[in-house]
Amino acid sequence: MMAPLAGRTALVTGAASGIGAAIAEAFAAAGARLCLVDRAEGDGLQTIHDRCAAYGNAVLSVRADVSVEADVTHMFAVTAEQLGTVDVLVNNAGILTECRVADMSTALFDEMIAVNLRSVFLCCHAALPGMLELGFGRIINIASQVGQKGGSGLAHYSAAKAGVIGFTRSLAREVSALGITANCIAPGPIITPLGGDLSEEWTRPLLAGLPLGRFGQPEEVAPTAVLLASDPGGNLYTGQTLGPNSGDVMV
Ligand SMILES: NC(=O)c1ccc[n+]([C@@H]2O[C@H](COP(=O)([O-])OP(=O)(O)OC[C@H]3O[C@@H](n4cnc5c(N)ncnc54)[C@H](O)[C@@H]3O)[C@@H](O)[C@H]2O)c1
Repeated sequence: MMAPLAGRTALVTGAASGIGAAIAEAFAAAGARLCLVDRAEGDGLQTIHDRCAAYGNAVLSVRADVSVEADVTHMFAVTAEQLGTVDVLVNNAGILTECRVADMSTALFDEMIAVNLRSVFLCCHAALPGMLELGFGRIINIASQVGQKGGSGLAHYSAAKAGVIGFTRSLAREVSALGITANCIAPGPIITPLGGDLSEEWTRPLLAGLPLGRFGQPEEVAPTAVLLASDPGGNLYTGQTLGPNSGDVMV
């Protein structure tokens, strides 16, 4: 059987760690050419680059901050030059902090919106001209179950993630008839560095309330991204929010 993403050029943001790294490797295994984007210093990006390159398809890594428009313009230009037009975009980069609204600074709120929501707009805006020219595109935005149900201490994060879901639904209504699908994945709690600083106050009742009784692994989220990116598996999904979430949210 042909690799489901053979011939595709996928750009994955936040690829140096956690869910983004797992999606990148699953895409490489599925035959995609890859642009891996992250702002993190350190060797995380190089490590996942090497793992993906071992599958034999072209891999490019770009250090960029996806909340900065000039960085986003640059990473799409370099990808177009070296790998061709991006036809699969995964907006995965994200940050999480815990802070109650009464204690929250405007700067903290703005940073959360910039990294988790503005970046999704910037990357979609940069990807769309190429996808419209191709008449094909798969946009996958990583939201969160917290964007669906809220979370104490997470108002800024849940506002950004609910915004991602609303943005994706509207975009799907604009572009689906032109060959471009846009969907969200809203994972539940997944074991990655992101949630490492969350307090027991948040994690203990969350774990107790999960129908599956356990947190997930990044590798258990990645197949949903492969499904949404692949042909024909993803063809009928648009404007949807898929929830690999241990049953935390049922819609
Ligand atoms: N882990 C969870 O429980 C969980 C649950 C629901 C949703 N999510 C979402 O999944 C996505 C991935 O999270 P994760 O758990 O793998 O986290 P992670 O911290 O392991 O990885 C996130 C990556 O994004 C990168 N990043 C952050 N800000 C960036 C920026 N401005 N520009 C470029 N790169 C940036 C980080 O450097 C990091 O490598 C996030 O959007 C997160 O909100 C995670």
